[in-house]
Amino acid sequence: MQKELQNGAIWLDTNGNVIHAHGGYILEWKDFYYWYGENRLGDNYISCYRSHDLINWEFRNNVLTTRSATKIHRVRTDLKLSNEDGSKVNIERPKVLYNEKTGKFVMWMHMENGKDYSAAACAIAICDTPDGNFTYLGSFRPYGYMSRDCTLFKDVDNTAYFVSAARDNADLHIYRLSEDYLNVDALVNRLWQGEYREAPAIMRKGGTYYMFSSYCTGWDPNQCKFAVSDSMEGRWSILHKIGDSTTYQTQPAFIFKKSGQYYYFADRWNGKDYHDSRYVVLPIHFKSSGRPYMDYEEYFRP
Ligand code: GAL
Repeated sequence: MQKELQNGAIWLDTNGNVIHAHGGYILEWKDFYYWYGENRLGDNYISCYRSHDLINWEFRNNVLTTRSATKIHRVRTDLKLSNEDGSKVNIERPKVLYNEKTGKFVMWMHMENGKDYSAAACAIAICDTPDGNFTYLGSFRPYGYMSRDCTLFKDVDNTAYFVSAARDNADLHIYRLSEDYLNVDALVNRLWQGEYREAPAIMRKGGTYYMFSSYCTGWDPNQCKFAVSDSMEGRWSILHKIGDSTTYQTQPAFIFKKSGQYYYFADRWNGKDYHDSRYVVLPIHFKSSGRPYMDYEEYFRP
């Protein structure tokens, strides 16, 4: 059993294999934490690992691959999981929520054609279990808007939101989802127009919502910024810096809470060798004013 993970080192699963769950998300479900993320090896798109302690990760399944089942959805979507020439599409930043009403696990992600970033679409997949084979429901552009870097956020009343970069990444949109999480219900916010925010990650502490995001510099790290709001649909503050100028060479993946402590879960990308990308997890602290801050730490010890 491992007791800690070294930030930026190669992280191994309980079989001794390198963990590939980039641009990911953690869902807490029953006794386990489920970590979903990008794994571009072979036919894979998304892999899932699970853990009791966030340190020892058991590989569970490649939950979305080129061979995943597809199903026609009530929303008009593109169901292709590979291109006509047989090449793979590109699936990024998968996030998964459990829907209390339908009892389904719903994944939202960013979909591209594998050649460039012109598709700029979101995509959905669904499953009866957290780590089973997800059924792909296809990709689409919410209300016709481009949709790239994204995240999901489930509020205390189970209302869920999909946040994604629109208008060639210039604006960040917040969409409220329908009750079953299988469509967008309303575009409730168009944030920071022209400020090119990417990699959104959201948390709620008391009555305050915090959104972290990066600037738009591809695989290269930049200064993370955060903003606050009293509600997902309300007015968000302007952006404030957090961390150092490269955010310790990372980009946000998601924010996670364990035993009252919030953690910034990030990717340290290797743009030249994608599968050599690493993970960095840092505790988020708060000043008495409510302002969040974080410092670099060598080890992740939740
Ligand atoms: C980043 C984005 C990543 C990936 C990358 C490709 O800005 O956050 O998810 O799309 O660009 O260059």
